[in-house]
Amino acid sequence: MDIKVRAGKLSAQKNDAIVIGLFEGEKKLSGEIAEIDRSLGGALSQSIKQGRLTGKTGESEIFHSFGNLSANLMLVVGLGKRDELTLDKLRSAVAGLCRTLRQNQALSIAIQPLEASVGVKNPSENAQAITEGALLGLYTFRRHITKKPEYGDFKEIILVCRADDVTATKKGVDKGKILAEAANLARDMANEPSNYMTPADITEIAQDIASQHKLDLTILERDEMAKLGMGGVLSVSQGSCKEPKFIILGYKGRTAQTVDLALVGKGVTFDSGGISLKPSEGMGDMKGDMAGAASVIAAMSAIAQLKPKLNVTAVVAAVENMPSGCAYKPGDVVKTMNGKTIEVITTDAEGRITLADALSYVNARIKAKNIVDVATLTGACVVALGHVASAIFTNKQELADKVLTAGKKAGELSWQMPMFEEYKEQNKSDVADIKNTGGRPGGAITAAQFLVEFAGDTPWVHMDIAGVDLSDKEHGYTVKGATGIPVRTLIILAMDMARK
Ligand code: BES
Ligand code: MN
Ligand code: ZN
Repeated sequence: MDIKVRAGKLSAQKNDAIVIGLFEGEKKLSGEIAEIDRSLGGALSQSIKQGRLTGKTGESEIFHSFGNLSANLMLVVGLGKRDELTLDKLRSAVAGLCRTLRQNQALSIAIQPLEASVGVKNPSENAQAITEGALLGLYTFRRHITKKPEYGDFKEIILVCRADDVTATKKGVDKGKILAEAANLARDMANEPSNYMTPADITEIAQDIASQHKLDLTILERDEMAKLGMGGVLSVSQGSCKEPKFIILGYKGRTAQTVDLALVGKGVTFDSGGISLKPSEGMGDMKGDMAGAASVIAAMSAIAQLKPKLNVTAVVAAVENMPSGCAYKPGDVVKTMNGKTIEVITTDAEGRITLADALSYVNARIKAKNIVDVATLTGACVVALGHVASAIFTNKQELADKVLTAGKKAGELSWQMPMFEEYKEQNKSDVADIKNTGGRPGGAITAAQFLVEFAGDTPWVHMDIAGVDLSDKEHGYTVKGATGIPVRTLIILAMDMARK
């Protein structure tokens, strides 16, 4: 799909449809919208008068132009109250209207990101939000469906703006594309079933990104992991026939060698639970247990294009967690790369065991100044925050604040959880340095307390995305399946960290 910027009038656009935003409570039409209304014989003002269109969020009406406009259709979308419109609401509104128009076979549209029509003041941010909304909202995952969809592919979106705003608008479109495409890449990876997204497949995607955007890539195979003492990754992976892969993808935005930010992603390509087998109902969702890995890898592709002046490295231990005669077992003790030993209480708390090695590797080899890990780590997180927000944990408030701020800008909600020392008690083991579960109470927090043992004193944030990586319904720019959260948060974080 093409997204183009053009100076001129909306009414002159020869697309399938033009789009007009309507604010709640603003009954008097003005400017170009009033002109368009007149061309349509007052159809829009009639609709407002008759109360069909009130400007409420989520509302929309399609009008035929009957040849009175260059476009065949006009869609009017409710944007809510003018002073309550945010970039995120704009993103959602655009996503929804794009899907509505696609359903109506209107596959080329023109939209006016003017202050007057969409409220938000900065033309570049405006255009970015519209672009993200369109690309995220129109996303589909049909790779394994051989039947054609009932609608065609979206062809183009024209952003019609004032001549003065063309440059800023284009900038916003370019940035929005990079962010949304990265999120959609992560969605593709997490939506892919586990037989198509093995550790080797993740490695291939990392290779593609590295060669496309000139990033440094190192892949460690099983024997190299063994040499480094990564007993955690190797234990979790040993029940599967799929070879584990340890992926290090590096971006350099400044000449110094120091890595400013390490992004660590949980990369369990399928989590059966292992010998502590999960119940079969819903187990298929565990193909998405590599959403953290997908997020950090996809974020790197955007960071490489946006070129912030800092060094960022993504680290992923990609494994499959399976039961077999070779599988690791409850009661086993596992030695990790930093020398600490873990008592395996349940083989289903596998993510933290792989992350133990990934975090140890970052501290020993990459020596990053900041670490953010992203993981579908605990069911307890889903209980705590539902499907609305990611849980954030930290050993350094400053970094957590940056992640929270980036999340707000992205429209990806996150909420900070406590890291009280008292929770550590539950992780104490009688036979090893630490247990891999602290039991049910506060399960998301004890998991974070486990991870911090391996993050050490390096400023670190852990994002538990177990509740938000998948969606079972379509709303706003979220579609069914993988959400691509928190890819845009990570990209914005890197950009913000480079700015200071
Ligand atoms: N991948 C799961 C966590 C998960 C659950 C992600 C639901 C997405 C949705 C993780 O590996 C896991 O199995 N965690 C266990 C830990 C427990 C055994 C200590 C859990 O949360 O039940
Ligand atoms: Mn598990
Ligand atoms: Zn898991």
